[in-house]
Amino acid sequence: MNRLSTSWGEYDLTRFPEDPRDTLRAWSAADAYLLRHLAGDEGDGEPIALDGAVAVVGDRWGALTTALAAHRPVQITDSHLARQATLANLARAGLPADEARLLTTRDTPPERVDVLLVRVPKSLALLEDQLRRIAPALHAGTVVVGTGMVTEIHTSTLELFERIVGPTRTSLARQKARLIFSTPDPELRPGPSPWPHSYVLPDDSGAGAGLTAVNHAGIFCAERLDIGTRFLLEHLPSTSGDAHVVDLGCGNGVLGTAAAVANPEARVTFVDESYQAVASAEATFRANTAAAKGEFVAADALTAMPPDSVDLVLNNPPFHSHQATTDATAQRMFRGARDALRPGGELWVVGNRHLGYHVRLKRLFGNVEVAASNRKFVILRAVRRA
Ligand SMILES: C[S@@+](CC[C@H](N)C(=O)[O-])C[C@H]1O[C@@H](n2cnc3c(N)ncnc32)[C@H](O)[C@@H]1O
Repeated sequence: MNRLSTSWGEYDLTRFPEDPRDTLRAWSAADAYLLRHLAGDEGDGEPIALDGAVAVVGDRWGALTTALAAHRPVQITDSHLARQATLANLARAGLPADEARLLTTRDTPPERVDVLLVRVPKSLALLEDQLRRIAPALHAGTVVVGTGMVTEIHTSTLELFERIVGPTRTSLARQKARLIFSTPDPELRPGPSPWPHSYVLPDDSGAGAGLTAVNHAGIFCAERLDIGTRFLLEHLPSTSGDAHVVDLGCGNGVLGTAAAVANPEARVTFVDESYQAVASAEATFRANTAAAKGEFVAADALTAMPPDSVDLVLNNPPFHSHQATTDATAQRMFRGARDALRPGGELWVVGNRHLGYHVRLKRLFGNVEVAASNRKFVILRAVRRA
């Protein structure tokens, strides 16, 4: 199921964190199509020479980076989970970790790229930001190939490649995947990036009123405040003294920042698996608090947090994307919170009423109560028992 056959070899690939019950593949038809094209196995041309500087942007679970490791690619990802999956997949293939250079979206991109491979991300804003950042490294001879599922490639996606890279066309669809071919035009001047984007929280957004939210491209609710987040801001629990607060799945960090503004003695740790989110949270925190203590961590839920070290966890868990994955993530976040909290410490979760977090929290913590609810959302409070 998880074995990917390529011209470079066969690879057993897993997502991260690895879960034997997970039936979802760590690669897609879009990855396989791109690799066949590069190898010249699609009958659409000669193999692509991969002997220059190869950059792989947006590799979901490291399938492209692992298969192309012999060409020492630079991987650029916004996802801590993707980076960890890549390291695990390289190791499983018996490849040393330094076969690939792993960069995040926040790192300085390579200076020169001869082959640019782009796994199209879900967020158009993230794609725009990534293309703009890497565009200065391209030259007229750079081979640029994008890949994605048909449902992920829209006219707006192709327009971005046209506007930032150069003339663009697409391939035929194969197994519901499509390739994008762009020819770099060194004369193009795509203009300055519109990111990061800032907005001020409205006066009626509870503890968040008047805060400035800073958003890097591609993060959750980068354009406006999420209504679930707003509901939690209206009911934010108070803390005193040097309480350790964690904003878990922090996005732009408005929840943790509001907690720091309400209690400047608090120590707030912001955690997200997206590097863009962690950078946004840091920028939001700095824009609103002068002296408060903040820590900014890219991690999977609370796996990096010492046990019994936290007084309050604020959490608006991920939803939207693939249901099975997001359920598992919420569970991991709740379990991580239980382990990281000190006895008496509290987890506050906001979610859509229908998501059923109530049952899960009761099972994990042995208690849960509704702190607030409205027609759409519920805020649940679970206390870590001794
Ligand atoms: C619903 S958003 C909430 C963002 C922010 N707290 C807010 O309320 O606006 C969920 C966040 O969880 C992050 N996330 C998803 N999976 C994660 C994981 N395994 N570990 C840490 N954060 C994760 C997402 O990147 C996203 O920023």
